[in-house]
Amino acid sequence: MTMLWLSAVVSLLLSSSLHAAGAGAGASSLSVRRYDAIFSFGDSFADTGNNPVVFSWYSVFDPVTRPPYGSTFFGHPTGRNCDGRLVVDFVAERLGVPLLPPFLAYNGSFRRGANFAVGAATALDSSIFHAGDPPPGASPFPVNTSLGVQLGWFESLKPSLCSTTQGKKKCKDFFGRSLFFVGEFGFNDYEFFFRKKSMEEIRSFVPYIIETISIAIERLIKHGAKSLVVPGMTPSGCTPLILAIFADQAGPDDYDPATGCLKAQNELAILHNSLLQQSLLNLQARHPDASIVYADFFSPIMEMVRSPGKFGFEDDILTICCGGPGTALCGDQGAITCEDPSARLFWDVVHMTEVAYRYIAEDWLRIIESPGNKII
Ligand SMILES: *[C@@H]1O[C@H](CO)[C@@H](O)[C@H](O)[C@H]1NC(C)=O
Ligand SMILES: *[C@@H]1O[C@H](CO)[C@@H](O)[C@H](O)[C@H]1NC(C)=O
Repeated sequence: MTMLWLSAVVSLLLSSSLHAAGAGAGASSLSVRRYDAIFSFGDSFADTGNNPVVFSWYSVFDPVTRPPYGSTFFGHPTGRNCDGRLVVDFVAERLGVPLLPPFLAYNGSFRRGANFAVGAATALDSSIFHAGDPPPGASPFPVNTSLGVQLGWFESLKPSLCSTTQGKKKCKDFFGRSLFFVGEFGFNDYEFFFRKKSMEEIRSFVPYIIETISIAIERLIKHGAKSLVVPGMTPSGCTPLILAIFADQAGPDDYDPATGCLKAQNELAILHNSLLQQSLLNLQARHPDASIVYADFFSPIMEMVRSPGKFGFEDDILTICCGGPGTALCGDQGAITCEDPSARLFWDVVHMTEVAYRYIAEDWLRIIESPGNKII
């Protein structure tokens, strides 16, 4: 009796997962027709190869140009801050669009999309962070790759994508058939502030960062964008780099006992995400022809932190796969790498592993491909 019941459940599970796979395949072949291109703005969570070019402008060493970056999927470093693919790569694969060429490092056609995201980019103009810096020998970071600069690159590329001699409508139609990722932005803005300002001051900057993102979205809509995905912040209080920055100053009460994450940093990300969602609702109301979708970067990572086993991760979930001992960064000579990156959430001190990005992409694709998302 029990066995029969079990086998019935198993066959039910099997058939429903087959059904889901079939539905996914159908959706992706539809999507192939639906999106001509993907354009992406953001930082290292989305950068598919721009940061090595930018870092070379400033003559700063970029560890991601060295193995073992790229070792899980590409077999060599690609400029991605990961052992393999990023969320945007998994989305492109599913939608049948080529992996996004990095705008600064690619010499071919951008007709199927372009990635303007750069590692270490901020939403706010970089000059804001340098106010009061001692000039000689000051850190070049954050470098001049803010969201506004990335939009400028997009606008400089536009004439080659949809010739203006073909009229304005041609461009609007093309961008209307494209998918736009705006973000994640915020992690670097707050991280640069962490080194200089109190948490209270930093929280007062959140509305300006959200406003900067909102203005960028409206600028893209003016160009014809109709499908926009806007990722929120990750739980930065769980990020090994942030944990290390605060290791000396934080007391036992500053940590969430259930996760080991820093409470105030995660609350900052929650504030950012809630103001961002409010702002997206306002934008959506002002632009009913567009679909402006919030992509949750926070909850899936918290779920992995809380239930590592569910994802096949080892229990020491906040431990990095690549980097150390001591201050050795991933990509540095002598840095160590874990045996199985697929058993880790964090690849290096800031970034997630390919397997974690794959889980997050599944979440985002459910929203991007949902029938309720009227543009798709
Ligand atoms: C891009 O292509 C042009 C023409 O084919 C070539 O002259 C130029 O050197 C290339 N640039 C890079 C960065 O590869
Ligand atoms: C930043 O880059 C933009 C676009 O490339 C440029 O117009 C601007 O002058 C630059 N700002 C600084 C401070 O270098």
